[in-house]
Amino acid sequence: MAEKKDFPVFRVGIVTSSDKGYQGEREDKSGPRIKELLPAEQYEVVSMRLLPDERAMIEEELIRLADLEQCDLVLTTGGTGFSMRDVTPEATLAVSGRVAPGIAEAIRAGSMAITKRAMLSRAVSAIRHRTLIINLPGSPKACMESMDVFMDTIPHAMGLLRNEVQDCARK
Ligand code: MTE
Repeated sequence: MAEKKDFPVFRVGIVTSSDKGYQGEREDKSGPRIKELLPAEQYEVVSMRLLPDERAMIEEELIRLADLEQCDLVLTTGGTGFSMRDVTPEATLAVSGRVAPGIAEAIRAGSMAITKRAMLSRAVSAIRHRTLIINLPGSPKACMESMDVFMDTIPHAMGLLRNEVQDCARK
């Protein structure tokens, strides 16, 4: 496991995609839950926004977080399922130059041990320039279960994206 001191503080953007949340019909508990799960000594949450399930708006926000806010990490929550309004994976892929399928695969594999419904997540993980974007499912519990899978490993990935880690060999 990576030592905290090995890495600088990472800049993080959080995006909740939820029509009901955006219309004020449901409180967004997932964005705040994700923030709580990011240790403040290693992660600085620079933005947390609630959007409707509108692909263009999600794409615009992901671009803003990567290019203007220079986030190391963007975590999205919601919009990964099978409903016709679920478009977060499509928005993520549209703004990303490279895919990082292993993270989404690991989340699904880890989550399958908890619920078979994990196979219904279409979440992707991808890279825009130096920003790692990871889709999480919509519920706060699912966010926590998903983050449990990758939190140990992503500092190394973000270090590589920043060019601050050159060596991938395990010590
Ligand atoms: N993953 C975990 N770890 N825990 C969960 O409860 N729920 C699943 C799946 N992934 C779940 C999970 C369900 S029921 C759905 S429909 C999909 O995530 C998509 O969720 P979303 O549409 O809220 O993004």
